[in-house]
Amino acid sequence: MLKGIILAGGKGRRLGPTTLAVNKQLLMLYDKPIIFYPLSIMLKLKIKDILIIINSDQKTNFKKILGNGSHLGIKITYKVQKKPNGIPQAFTLGEKFIKNNKVCLILGDNFFYNLKLDLKKILKKNYNTILLKKVKNPEQYGIVKIVKNKIEKIIEKPKKKLTDIAIMGIYFFDENVSKYAKTLKPSRRKETEIVDLIKIYLKRRILNYQFIKKSIWSDVGTIADYNKISNFIKLKEKATKIKIACLEEISFKNKWITKKQIKKNVNFYGDCEYSNYLKKLV
Ligand code: DAU
Repeated sequence: MLKGIILAGGKGRRLGPTTLAVNKQLLMLYDKPIIFYPLSIMLKLKIKDILIIINSDQKTNFKKILGNGSHLGIKITYKVQKKPNGIPQAFTLGEKFIKNNKVCLILGDNFFYNLKLDLKKILKKNYNTILLKKVKNPEQYGIVKIVKNKIEKIIEKPKKKLTDIAIMGIYFFDENVSKYAKTLKPSRRKETEIVDLIKIYLKRRILNYQFIKKSIWSDVGTIADYNKISNFIKLKEKATKIKIACLEEISFKNKWITKKQIKKNVNFYGDCEYSNYLKKLV
């Protein structure tokens, strides 16, 4: 079975001061909480069993909005990360959750639109896959250098420009991921690095990559990106009359919930734009 983890902790300092009180992933990105966007990707990938990793004081807040996921026909559980000790900690904290399954990790502040990835290909090969996209500011990302279709180098936030190919915040790993994550040592930034985990798979020659071309992708960790994406969502939703990351719409398409459930969710969310959209669906 394929399980999902969303990493939704961290300090979110660059979006302060609001993030002193509320996790970044619960802030509103145009018309819905940021967490809806990575969660919508999980639902589109038909992943029903999802662990959300959060800060210790945020469980009540997350539960208020997402509960145990049954209203979406999925199962959501939560795990606290005491300190932001690194992205790979998702796999050590999630060890029991993952068990012998394969897992998809999505960073809680990553926004994807029109993400077309070949899940069948990922599942058919040995599963361990990173997604790559050309960016204008590679110094802000983990990047890879590819020579003759082979990954030659992986670096986190390179100081000198080596390539413009960034690693997106969505990763697929096999059932050994927790075991490997445990072996990682903190970097100079005093946290374990996702690129070091990826390097283990590269070294074992069991790492695949997929280039993502057309889709829009950004993390929304800075005010500039946050506003840019918020505006993008506004314009897209207006032009297409389709909500991006409407969780109920995807669950309904997946046949995981009924129209009756959507009506219940409308009552739960109350009188808001998101509910108005749901009303139109049913
Ligand atoms: O967005 C893609 C990039 O994400 C990758 O290209 C990089 O290789 C990867 O390191 C990461 O870079 P960021 O600088 O964007 O990572 P950041 O520290 O902002 O963390 C990403 C998300 O994960 C954010 O929502 C906070 C959360 N997080 C992060 C860490 C380190 C946690 O919940 N716990 C943590 O310990």
